[in-house]
Amino acid sequence: MTQTALPCRSVLYVPASRARAMEKAKGLPIDAIIFDLEDAVAADGKAAARNLLAETLKAGGFGQRQQIVRINGFDTEWGADDLAAISAARPQAILLPKVNSAKDIEALAALLDATPDTAQTKIWAMMETPQGILNAAQIAAAPRMAGFVIGTNDLAKDLKSRTRGAMVTALQLCLLAARAQGLLCVDGVYNAFKDEAGLAAECTQGRDFGFDGKTLIHPAQIAVTNAAFAPSEAEIDLARRQITAFNDAQSRGEGVAVVDGKIVENLHVETARTTLAIADAIAASEAE
Ligand code: COA
Ligand code: MG
Repeated sequence: MTQTALPCRSVLYVPASRARAMEKAKGLPIDAIIFDLEDAVAADGKAAARNLLAETLKAGGFGQRQQIVRINGFDTEWGADDLAAISAARPQAILLPKVNSAKDIEALAALLDATPDTAQTKIWAMMETPQGILNAAQIAAAPRMAGFVIGTNDLAKDLKSRTRGAMVTALQLCLLAARAQGLLCVDGVYNAFKDEAGLAAECTQGRDFGFDGKTLIHPAQIAVTNAAFAPSEAEIDLARRQITAFNDAQSRGEGVAVVDGKIVENLHVETARTTLAIADAIAASEAE
């Protein structure tokens, strides 16, 4: 399935209770924002946060950044009111926490279907419960789905796992399910937001697994993440040479080329084209 070329390297959680942080996000070099009404907002601040967020989204000013709203779950006292409050602002996407099955997505999709304001609103799923991970394939195939965000903190808690290594199966099940449906798939947060080397290592691992990007908690994490998930100069150069060599081979009536001692077939050319498309999209967003 064709992957989207929209860059989604850096996805910053911004607490919807913090006007100053939301304002700051307008000037940060991030590909997407998750306006959070769930865990980043205390219980007694939920109502004020959802009203502030509704106004903030209506006012706009976030440019090309994808805007995703994480509401509270519908099994809490806040979920329904969150959705009702922000619907009039025509949110681009709703991120549903603790998704366990496709039924959770279908229920949200039915609510979005019920009002013209949310006719175009996509759904993202937090993948962070054991049930959700086991049902990843059906969740990815549910209506309106655009992407997965991995909730590694909740997942570690429920699995009782102590290391990222212990979560690799869950991460890869999510990637398999997301890719089977052509969805975006974004890695979990790195909690130690002042540890740049640790973040860089985890970004590299996430990129090598196949994630499109990483969720972030602090602006200090943006530069490292953007660099890790962008195609490098060497990758861009290789992609260009692969396409040229393959075209040359085809014009000679051959189906396979060789670049740097490695074969290049049609499928490698497809990957090379995606690399260039992502590089172009990043360059365009940086020129903005
Ligand atoms: N989004 C946008 N701006 C942010 C931000 C975020 N997530 N985190 C910090 N900032 C801003 C601050 O507002 C401050 O801006 P200012 O200098 O213009 O006032 C600047 O970045 C520096 O912030 P700093 O003082 O280093 O951090 P802090 O003490 O204000 O906040 C956290 C630290 C961890 C509380 C904060 O980063 C945060 O709330 N992160 C998100 C947590 C979250 O969403 N969790 C749920 C998902 S895991
Ligand atoms: Mg969570």
